[in-house]
Amino acid sequence: MLVTNKALMVPARKKGYAIGAFNVQNLESAQAVAEAAAEEKSPAILQITPSVIKYAGLPYISGLVKTAAQLSPVPLAMHLDHGEDFETAAKCVDAGFTSVMIDGSFLKFEENIALTKRVVDVAHPKGVSVEAELGKLAGIEERSVEEKDAILTDPKTAAEFVERTGVDMLAVAIGTSHGAYKFKSETKLDIERLKVISEKTSIPLVLHGASSVPQWLVEKATRFGASLGGAKGIPEEEIKKAIALGIAKINIDTDLRLAFTATVREVLAISPKEFDPRKILGPAKDAMKDVAKSKMRLFGSSGKAP
Ligand code: G3H
Ligand code: 13P
Ligand code: ZN
Repeated sequence: MLVTNKALMVPARKKGYAIGAFNVQNLESAQAVAEAAAEEKSPAILQITPSVIKYAGLPYISGLVKTAAQLSPVPLAMHLDHGEDFETAAKCVDAGFTSVMIDGSFLKFEENIALTKRVVDVAHPKGVSVEAELGKLAGIEERSVEEKDAILTDPKTAAEFVERTGVDMLAVAIGTSHGAYKFKSETKLDIERLKVISEKTSIPLVLHGASSVPQWLVEKATRFGASLGGAKGIPEEEIKKAIALGIAKINIDTDLRLAFTATVREVLAISPKEFDPRKILGPAKDAMKDVAKSKMRLFGSSGKAP
């Protein structure tokens, strides 16, 4: 069934586990996440970025995800990830998304509040939950304390932001970044900062840029021709600490992409005579599904579907 993020995440924050929010782009990725959730008896969020909407078209991609949710024995949410402006968020509310993110993290504090509030005002009357972001997702290695303070979420303003906007979920910046190259050396998050934010807010918190970039996946892709030198992600231990401190939604895109691409490369390399797309994309989908299942176990959401 199709549900809001809020319905999944409020119990998660209360009980100390997190819901995986997996980026999907096409039939195979939507099926991979939905099948993983069903097999793990886990709730899950299928999320779509504006660039996927440009790639696939809104009716195609929202139709796929809606169908996956309607056929699913476990609760799934359909979420707009990194909504870039009011118009995109409003369009997704109208298209039946059960949750939208409005990403005003690049704006000044008051402007972020105003934009977020505008989206809340169109989403809430339709029962759609809203995620906003405070602070910037950027690498923080080799940065001074002052530089970190300027980039990461300020715990002092987080509670005010939540109060004044009425958002349901807050994405925080604590040292993660998007993609496969998150750190050069030290793979650490600002857990102390998260602790303070968590004490000052009670809504579910969201961790973007949470892929672990497993070395076995990097090695597999490399074995079959990829060039991914220096790829590094968030250690699973840091993820567990973050969940214990109120992170209830964890965004994963890169690890799914790596699993998919490594397997496409493998099939093409091992079976040069193969040209049936189903024989190439089917195993890639299964590889994505395995990664999604392992995330559900790590996040503690396995077995939590009613
Ligand atoms: O933040 C979300 C993604 O990892 C970037 O996704 O390439 O679909 O915009 P995109
Ligand atoms: P990763 O690039 O670490 O998978 O993060 C994805 C994300 O935050 C999507 O919003
Ligand atoms: Zn993100």
